[in-house]
Amino acid sequence: MAKLFGIGVGPGDSELLTIKAIRAMENSEVIFAPSAFEGGESIAYETAKEYISEDKKIEIIHFPMGKDNTQDKARETYEAIYQYLKKGMNVSFLTIGDPFVYSTYTHLLNYINERGFEVVTVPGITSFCASAAVANEYLVLGNEPLMVTPAARLDAVKDEKFLVIMKVYKREEEVVDFLDANGFDYVYIKKAGRVGEEILRDREEIIKNKEYMALILAKKKELAQVI
Ligand SMILES: C[S@@+](CC[C@H](N)C(=O)[O-])C[C@H]1O[C@@H](n2cnc3c(N)ncnc32)[C@H](O)[C@@H]1O
Repeated sequence: MAKLFGIGVGPGDSELLTIKAIRAMENSEVIFAPSAFEGGESIAYETAKEYISEDKKIEIIHFPMGKDNTQDKARETYEAIYQYLKKGMNVSFLTIGDPFVYSTYTHLLNYINERGFEVVTVPGITSFCASAAVANEYLVLGNEPLMVTPAARLDAVKDEKFLVIMKVYKREEEVVDFLDANGFDYVYIKKAGRVGEEILRDREEIIKNKEYMALILAKKKELAQVI
């Protein structure tokens, strides 16, 4: 029976794909990759393409970021993938970072599982692990929890000392206001591992940026004395 490989290609640096990801793509006849804009490039495909041989069929699908029709789009994409699986062809579906961290792949799986195809998920380096590495900032230590949250859910932060704030696009000011008011140090990382990578610590510089592929790592100021 044909397989679906859900592949995390990492943050966008082609040296951060795993050997397992490369082997899974070699084992697939068809490669699906999402693009954020209609007719636009797919960052996941661009990241992986040097490892994809010319005989593969490439399907770039438009997956609008942060829109309400994710379920419909997932169903449509699933139907397209299914056309290949039912012919016995293996399919790879590429995602940025890890497939199980805020990824459309999860929606797809609901449908794939319904029809009983084998699914192999290949983990990828998350954007926040890559961001911590490029900024040389530890993410969490000791017995502390690490909270990973989208910028839209800062209301969920209680007494956590270590935060990863994703999807900060268009909420940059709101996030730094929150962090300043609550005694956090922070660093904004844009396009970690990609052309255009930037690491910003200055409030005003951060607010000026309007970039979808960006996140903020934050930790309580009091930790500076503890460590
Ligand atoms: C839909 S989520 C995808 C997360 C991804 N699956 C992961 O494991 O990191 C998109 C968010 O991930 C973050 N992101 C993805 N790639 C990034 C990069 N190269 N640099 C900084 N942030 C990134 C941004 O916060 C962006 O809004």
